[in-house]
Amino acid sequence: MPTQQIPSDLNPQWERKSWRNFPIKQHPSYANKKELQEVEEELRSYPPLVFAGEARNLKERFKEASRGRAFLLQGGDCAESFSQFNGINIRDMFKVIIQMGAILTFAGSCPIVKVGRLAGQFAKPRSSDAEIVEGVELPSYRGDMINGMEFDVISRTPDPKRMLRAYHQSAATLNLIRAFAQGGMADLNEVHRWNLSFVKNNDFGKKYEELADRITQTLGFMKACGINTQNTPILKETEFYTSHEALLLNYEEQLVRQDSLSGDWYGCSAHMLWIGERTRGLQEAHLEFLRGLKNPVGVKIGPNATKEDILGICDVLNPENEAGRLNLIVRMGADMINERFPKLLRSVQNEGREILWSCDPMHGNTIKASSGYKTRVFDSVLSEVKSFFEIHKAEGSYAGGVHLEMTGQDVTECVGGSQEITEAGLGCNYNTQCDPRLNATQAIELAFLIADILKNRKVSQ
Ligand code: PEP
Ligand code: CO
Repeated sequence: MPTQQIPSDLNPQWERKSWRNFPIKQHPSYANKKELQEVEEELRSYPPLVFAGEARNLKERFKEASRGRAFLLQGGDCAESFSQFNGINIRDMFKVIIQMGAILTFAGSCPIVKVGRLAGQFAKPRSSDAEIVEGVELPSYRGDMINGMEFDVISRTPDPKRMLRAYHQSAATLNLIRAFAQGGMADLNEVHRWNLSFVKNNDFGKKYEELADRITQTLGFMKACGINTQNTPILKETEFYTSHEALLLNYEEQLVRQDSLSGDWYGCSAHMLWIGERTRGLQEAHLEFLRGLKNPVGVKIGPNATKEDILGICDVLNPENEAGRLNLIVRMGADMINERFPKLLRSVQNEGREILWSCDPMHGNTIKASSGYKTRVFDSVLSEVKSFFEIHKAEGSYAGGVHLEMTGQDVTECVGGSQEITEAGLGCNYNTQCDPRLNATQAIELAFLIADILKNRKVSQ
């Protein structure tokens, strides 16, 4: 990859490929350049996965969330995989997200913007470029669209053809999600059916059943007043958006398209794209890439971010200070957030920057259990979310959303929660492709706890 450095202000001419003139981190190096180019050309000839108008709608929703009039619920796998690709997993992920949406809307009295971390979440930044097992060193696994998880030379060698498979899997996933969102699965009359069978007998599963009863009663009342799914289609559909980390720019570049209505450029691999804590350098390729797209975009913010970093990100990604354009996803950890975030938030607020602030309570709270599993403690996740709300309240700003790694499956990857998963129990069903996810029960529990906070917050209209 070329590493020539051209500061953005000397390079106003953004192009799909202008990221190639910047230093880049966390990117694979493909040995067979010809094959890479062939794959890129093929991807460029494929249809876009999303339509620019949808990304514009999402930007409007982000604007509402940044004003405290809506709340962003973004969640999904840490990494999607080729091997766990099937309809059941997609359906269960969809169900748990809309179930959380119903809890937050009904118990928290707040419209929820639902954004899946799916249909494209296939590339991972890694803390180390290489992995050593029993004296053998191989490149680290970087996600199924780059290389394979198996520890052998062939699997760990970056293979451009994996991008094609990721595209097709994303298209099929998105197709099913759109069908669920519009074809009846999201009908509020089905609210009881969203509760997954293994969640039902748990305390929070039961609490959900009670909430679903109340929704059903409310629908009965509305029906008697003449409001039903025939004359009010919104009751049987939901808006559901997609997002992923824009890490592998060889892929993302090919899905950038010019919108025929506005002439603007959109990243059409997902409605929203974000860049990670490790690739958000101001003079680097990933920021350069996102800068030219009109989608709503996100950037992860870790505990070492400075005011200058954030203002620089705002200048590059949102020079017109448009509300709804920029989502900063804070992931400092339950301990660090209280120490670092208040001052940072205050200084950015003082500059009048338009930001949708959301909280990723997962990535700053990853620990290694004594059994060797990477895990997260449910109470740390909850504690970071609570601090995030409190800090915003104290600073007169809005906590606009959460960003979660979660699954619709009954996995044992994070400890704690009402099921009281212990470190010793992690091995029962530890199934993640990368980082530990909240299981469906833990996700529902978290939604109830956030709903309580949302219900009590005051929003100036
Ligand atoms: C992620 O979201 O999976 C991730 C790697 O996050 P971060 O960039 O915050 O470390
Ligand atoms: Co992760």
